Amino acid sequence: MADTMLKMKDVSKIYVLGNQKNARKAQKAIHNLSKKYIRFTKKGNKTEAAKAEKFIAKAQRLFTEEKYEQSYQSITGRKIKPKSGKGSVVHALNGVSLEIKAGELVAIMGPSGSGKSTLLNMLGILDQPTSGQIHIDSSDVTATKGRNLPGLRSKKLGFVFQSFNLVPTLTALENVMLPLKYKGLHLRTRKKQARDALETVGLGDRLDHKPAELSGGQQQRVAIARSIVSNPAIILADELTGELDSKMTEEVMRLVLKLNKAGQTFIIVTHNPDVAKLCRRIIYMKDGRIEKETKNSR
Ligand SMILES: Nc1ncnc2c1ncn2[C@@H]1O[C@H](COP(=O)(O)OP(=O)(O)O)[C@@H](O)[C@H]1O
Ligand SMILES: [Mg+2]
Repeated sequence: MADTMLKMKDVSKIYVLGNQKNARKAQKAIHNLSKKYIRFTKKGNKTEAAKAEKFIAKAQRLFTEEKYEQSYQSITGRKIKPKSGKGSVVHALNGVSLEIKAGELVAIMGPSGSGKSTLLNMLGILDQPTSGQIHIDSSDVTATKGRNLPGLRSKKLGFVFQSFNLVPTLTALENVMLPLKYKGLHLRTRKKQARDALETVGLGDRLDHKPAELSGGQQQRVAIARSIVSNPAIILADELTGELDSKMTEEVMRLVLKLNKAGQTFIIVTHNPDVAKLCRRIIYMKDGRIEKETKNSR
């Protein structure tokens, strides 16, 4: 059995916009109790954890029904006056549970607004869930202190974006060296590791090219080299072929398959069925939930 690389349990994310004071209060109460729940679980205090879990579920249900005052009261025991403020409440994720094993290649699909980017932001530790738990490669992300999160992020995760996000004034080699900057490595070692990563993506002969001197497919391969150079547990990619034509998409996906075959775990958000088809597992999102899952045999 392969190791679990990532585990999400009952993850919800609620955005409160504008002047919805009571929704904000209820959301905060849920978030605080979720933190407590995590502390109880960590200490092995099962009775308190089970109690908290029940309260969270109830408050969450009331919140979903837009009964913000009751939701708040169910946790804190305190009454608040109903207020009809301007603004809105968005349930971007609604209790998502997910497990991903080492070496998996997973595609996430779904209509615009279904929560794909929010899910990826939670997995990428770029934002915190309102409730629920996330483990990445045996680290409990939701129990990790804020100041330790950037370190956890750079150790465990690699990111690839639709628009490559390369620094235009730096060469391919310098771009790939960037994530190694704060690791306290010798310049020579950093150069060697970056060169190795660029060779892996088939760009060993383009080290001194700046992004503008490379094709779109090559730029995305530099971005992939930059994501693998620090040896992440998981690479998260949001629409990595979104700005590429079909030939360059194929070139980038060939590389993804090669790296995956060597053991690299990937999670790819995509609208492109040809990209999803190449992934062994496809997760379909709808209205902030996992609607269904399919498996491809390759
Ligand atoms: N920072 C934010 N503040 C408020 N609402 C947001 C924010 N980010 C996303 N949303 C809302 O959450 C829902 C899911 O968005 P998103 O995860 O970006 O969907 P997708 O990536 O599938 O298109 C949408 O209704 C969107 O409007
Ligand atoms: Mg998106």
